[in-house]
Amino acid sequence: MSVVILDFGSQYTRLIARRIREAQAYSVILPGTAPLERIRAERPDAIVLSGGPRSVFEPGAPLADPRVFDAGLPILGICYGMGLLVQHFGGRVLDLDRRSFGADRLVRTDGPLFAGLGSEIPVWMSHSTAVAALPENWTSIAATPANPYAAVASPDGRMIGVQFHPEVIHTPDGLAMLRGFLRLAGVPLDWTPEQTLERLLADVRDRAGTDRVLLGLSGGVDSSTLALLLARAGVDHLAIFVDHGMLRLHERVNVEAALRPLGVRLATVDASAQFLAALAGVADPETKRKIIGREFIAVFRREADRHGPFRFLAQGTLYPDVIESAGGEGAANIKSHHNVGGLPADLGFELLEPLRTLFKDEVRQLAELLGLPDAIRLRHPFPGPGLAVRILGDVTAERLDLVRRADAIFLEVLEAHGAYHDAWQALAVLTPIRSVGVAGDDRRYGHVVALRAVTSVDAMTADWARLPYDVLDEAARRITREIPEVGRVVYDITSKPPATIEWE
Ligand code: XMP
Repeated sequence: MSVVILDFGSQYTRLIARRIREAQAYSVILPGTAPLERIRAERPDAIVLSGGPRSVFEPGAPLADPRVFDAGLPILGICYGMGLLVQHFGGRVLDLDRRSFGADRLVRTDGPLFAGLGSEIPVWMSHSTAVAALPENWTSIAATPANPYAAVASPDGRMIGVQFHPEVIHTPDGLAMLRGFLRLAGVPLDWTPEQTLERLLADVRDRAGTDRVLLGLSGGVDSSTLALLLARAGVDHLAIFVDHGMLRLHERVNVEAALRPLGVRLATVDASAQFLAALAGVADPETKRKIIGREFIAVFRREADRHGPFRFLAQGTLYPDVIESAGGEGAANIKSHHNVGGLPADLGFELLEPLRTLFKDEVRQLAELLGLPDAIRLRHPFPGPGLAVRILGDVTAERLDLVRRADAIFLEVLEAHGAYHDAWQALAVLTPIRSVGVAGDDRRYGHVVALRAVTSVDAMTADWARLPYDVLDEAARRITREIPEVGRVVYDITSKPPATIEWE
């Protein structure tokens, strides 16, 4: 019971999936060229054909398995997907010679897609082809001033093509239209967080049975939620939390306090001495990351041996990490740095990835149902290599202590001003620079700490957060007062790109 979204390379495909889930239906993205058998395996109630950068009549343009159109399933084709529908059933799509891009309005509408909406509906267009002739017995169900075929329907009304993009926010009634399609397709709208949780619990129990499950816990929202899920499911599990000595202030205690009372069996390992020794004298960022990754795996392996045997290794992989790339090219794209310390698949366990169908905000909803405290559930991302990538140059115990305290003060000030959630991520960096200052009558030669706060949606791009001056002021005053070794505080006003969020 799902909606299968066939991806033809649109930049909006994930948004379609998000919107369908907002309409409380379960959706899965597959490559546009996926064979019908693969699609059937998802037991779909309906199919959505995404947009795409190509033209449907172009040689080599990705095409859907032709059997998809005769499978008796309701289909919604968006933009390129509309072109596929029209072309398959014998209509004609033509080149516009230019890209029609931007806001438009539907002036004439008809049918269940538009039920309850006004007579003029603002929509977002982005296309370079248009429908020139409908397939036999198809009808236009919406027009714009310039385009008589802004939305079209098959004779039985179960296949619909739309030229505009209902999935983007610039189409304010887009969600209502998608709901209209899901209703006419008879898709159950029951993908609520509660149902999702029940389903996941059942799946995890089913898969793990009475076998033992090992989990690498980073303390982030994904792995913490996964630990709670295993605990709630009653699965025989052990979560290993490696303290590599580069965690935020009180991190270990906070994670233990949040998870243990909820039934998570947790083994924390203090390996900070081992990590510090391995990092001694290393200033190169990539080398630091490699060393941390290597030590992490060594510690994890050792602990797994000590507490084993385990059949499964549970990982908090999320849906954006497993979506196959556009048009069927390329394999599943799993970013190693999303998994705790980049645990390699060859650890000899079977992988258990119960969250792999979920988006981040769905995980947060789940975490709430499972009782994860908001302090962990809603907090900023934190990199696996931890504070090591926020110390430019050598990582030493003293420098870790400095940056850890500066970070804690900055976050505390943000919280106190209610500004924590205005930033997507906020951090302090210990630069290798020293600068001159005065304290009383004395000249002081202190460290320079850089503060960085960014806004972002997905970390791919970011802008520096326009924090109020009084927040920055208080952070700078407190850091220099409470950490006398710091003589100067600066604020990073670079966007990503060209900079990255972290300094290393
Ligand atoms: P950058 O610095 O590349 O960071 O703009 C983007 C986001 O990813 C986080 N980050 C990491 N997370 N392991 C992680 O788990 C890593 O090695 C890593 N490096 C960067 C960073 O904190 C930001 O949120």
